[in-house]
Amino acid sequence: MTSHALWWTKRGVLFFFCFIDLLKLSTAYSVSDANNIHNLLFNQSGYNTLVLPDYPVNVSVEYNLLTVNSLDLKSQTLSTSGWFTVVWNDSRLAWTTSSYGNIEHIYATEDIVWHPELIVQNSITELSNLGDDTTVRIQYDGEVRWELPAVLSTSCDMDVTYFPYDSQTCDIEVASWGFHTDAVKLIFLKTNLNLQDYRTNGEFDLVTTSQHSSELIEDGLAYSELLFRIVFERLPGHYIMSVIFPVIITAVLTSVTFILPVESGEKVGYILTVLLALAVLLTLFADNMPTTSKHTSVLVVFLTVTLGLASVVIIITILIIRLYHKPDHYIAPNWIHSLVRNFQKSRCSSASINHLDKSAVTENNPATDRSNWNEKNSNLDNIKPYTHYSNKELAEFFDNFFFVVFTVLYILVTLCFTITLSAAE
Ligand SMILES: *[C@@H]1O[C@H](CO)[C@@H](O)[C@H](O)[C@H]1NC(C)=O
Repeated sequence: MTSHALWWTKRGVLFFFCFIDLLKLSTAYSVSDANNIHNLLFNQSGYNTLVLPDYPVNVSVEYNLLTVNSLDLKSQTLSTSGWFTVVWNDSRLAWTTSSYGNIEHIYATEDIVWHPELIVQNSITELSNLGDDTTVRIQYDGEVRWELPAVLSTSCDMDVTYFPYDSQTCDIEVASWGFHTDAVKLIFLKTNLNLQDYRTNGEFDLVTTSQHSSELIEDGLAYSELLFRIVFERLPGHYIMSVIFPVIITAVLTSVTFILPVESGEKVGYILTVLLALAVLLTLFADNMPTTSKHTSVLVVFLTVTLGLASVVIIITILIIRLYHKPDHYIAPNWIHSLVRNFQKSRCSSASINHLDKSAVTENNPATDRSNWNEKNSNLDNIKPYTHYSNKELAEFFDNFFFVVFTVLYILVTLCFTITLSAAE
């Protein structure tokens, strides 16, 4: 009895596996079935690739972004790799799956089926129809799916005002070519760009993407157009280190000229070197900027202002050296003396200026003894109105004075610059 049952169980298992095999056989792909489908669709029915399947044909398009290759400021181009998925219905390309071994999809090349013509309108390399002997997948209900790979260089109007804290908005514009809106209507396949396979870029962060449809009008005929919009934000780290810091540091070096002693004979050489370094930085940087004058970069303005200030420093330095080397019998114009005197009066508490005052007085009145001077100094309002400073003292005074003025000026300009840039964030 038990052996009999065992025999039947074995039989059952065997039958079960045979049944699975049969099932597999019935869904298996067979070349002859696929051949029959191709014959049915393209030979027997007299398929004409020039005849539109519908009027209008709704063509759904999706853009799948793979990588951003470059976002070039100078040439204002965005280079991307990706592909378009284009889907439409062609009722002539339908078959009954049960009659053809349950085959649900066949593959063909685009040139044997009717297909829309698409161009990327803002491409800067070539303006030709997308697709070049690519494969289309035809589903049993007539849905045709066409995948178009494309490395695109598209123009993109970039705003460099807040470089390197800029963000750029770039569009990829796809338009129907040849068929106007009544014949081919482009619609979006998905609600947004496909970023599933997107690989991040080291220079830019992809912030958002969006889609907009529009129309291209020519001679009263409208052509369907789709815009795929991508917003990038620059990662500024590299530029902070290689552009912003060097510029600020070089700018700071400018005002140091004034504390370099005249005797060293290095003043003009030093400031000219700093000016040259600034000019090189400006040139290097300007080379990477677009030649458009639509947007002015804050960084370029900062560099230009710094360069202008450095030129003023050169002029002042040369005048100070000139004054320093004037012969002793030359007496500077009265207005200079009164300027220095008034300035020192207002800052009478400063020790260094008292010192200057003291030497000035003693030098011009060698007879004055120290106690007498101290007496005078205790009441600065009584400083002799016509005390003359020596040329060297005037030069030193102006050196110190302009050192303070230009340091404050540079701090202000640098603060303005950084505040403007950080406002962009
Ligand atoms: C194709 O037809 C199917 C079924 O009628 C429909 O769901 C689909 O949206 C159509 N596709 C397009 C691109 O119009």
